[in-house]
Amino acid sequence: MDTFSANKFQGKVTPPGDKSISHRALILASIANGTSEIVGLSNGEDVLHTKQAVFKMGAEIKEPNQTDSRAIHITGRKLSAPKDDIYIGNSGTGIRLLAGLCSGQNFETVLDGDKSIRKRPMDRVIDPLTEMGARIESNKTYAPLRIMGGNLKGIEYEMPVASAQVKGAILLAGLFASDQTKVVETVKTRAHTEEMLTQFGADIQADGLTTTLKPSNLNASKVSIPADPSQAAFFMVAATITQESEIQIPNVYLGQSRDGLVNVLQKMGADITKNEADKKEFGENVFNLTIKSANLSGVEIGKEVIPSLIDEIPVLAVAAACAEGETKISGVGELRFKESNRIQSLKNAFDALGGDMKVEGDTLLIQGTNGFSGGKINSVGDHRIAMAFAIGSFRSAKRI
Ligand code: S3P
Repeated sequence: MDTFSANKFQGKVTPPGDKSISHRALILASIANGTSEIVGLSNGEDVLHTKQAVFKMGAEIKEPNQTDSRAIHITGRKLSAPKDDIYIGNSGTGIRLLAGLCSGQNFETVLDGDKSIRKRPMDRVIDPLTEMGARIESNKTYAPLRIMGGNLKGIEYEMPVASAQVKGAILLAGLFASDQTKVVETVKTRAHTEEMLTQFGADIQADGLTTTLKPSNLNASKVSIPADPSQAAFFMVAATITQESEIQIPNVYLGQSRDGLVNVLQKMGADITKNEADKKEFGENVFNLTIKSANLSGVEIGKEVIPSLIDEIPVLAVAAACAEGETKISGVGELRFKESNRIQSLKNAFDALGGDMKVEGDTLLIQGTNGFSGGKINSVGDHRIAMAFAIGSFRSAKRI
């Protein structure tokens, strides 16, 4: 960020590498034949835990400073039992994807995390992975998970929840199954597992809502990780809701089910320009964005759109508070199962800060109030709630 003041944003923002892609790059590189080169890995704690997990199971890792290159190098291995439990901190993506990976291994692993992880539902991965043949013990379907993997069979699984983490876990386990695995979604979720499995040479086919994977050996690959749209989201909204702002955000991934916020903000009247980024480095669906200040109007957002902006709803709610009229966001039930119950966290924050939000079942109704009046909130250890209202403070009469 070049220039920054409480009332305008100008310059260039470089968000960290995409978190969802980072987890998957580490996991696939750890089981691929050869040495993968990964540039732009997220350096957040969640991804660090996944890196430690694959290291503990035998992947060889050379950090950029050991090789004089920007890339982290990972040499895949036939994984082996970790000496002790694997701790994944606060990361839902980490624990669920690793549950899939560990289910495919002929050894026992214990996956555990912090207080918040121990309260998040794991039956959504335990059920399909058990159907494939893994034996999983849990604390009444919550972490810690003790996974005794190996001898898996392929399954055909119709997803009861829209979740890319669950889809990813099943596909990772499917790599080690005796026959083909098929996952059928009711609504498209982010496609990072499928895209990256293709890149690492797996025999996988995605056809609409159905993904079919044959047991596969992977080959090492070179991965350039684009910027995380869920991190870019905060700055997109910040520039939009503050006067005289204009920012650039390069190399943002806007592929399947990650482009929801940009589309909705544009519908609300945001001034966002997209130019394709370097295809040779990043492949398809990566864009350089320019965002200028704009006046927003309320919109209706249907439940089919929710997976494409699931992590961006807190900051979208802040944008809606700054818009003219009502914004209605339907089908947000999954928000109850994130790092906090985000429906409750948002409602509490709006009430404390002078916003106007009603919750009717799984629908949020937000009246534009020209921002917030100010006050104090508890972000309840949820990074996206903290960031969203940090951005909200730019349109707040008094300090948040
Ligand atoms: C993710 C999927 C989403 C998202 C999470 C990352 C992923 O979760 O909220 O931050 O990388 O697969 P669900 O699978 O629970 O929808």
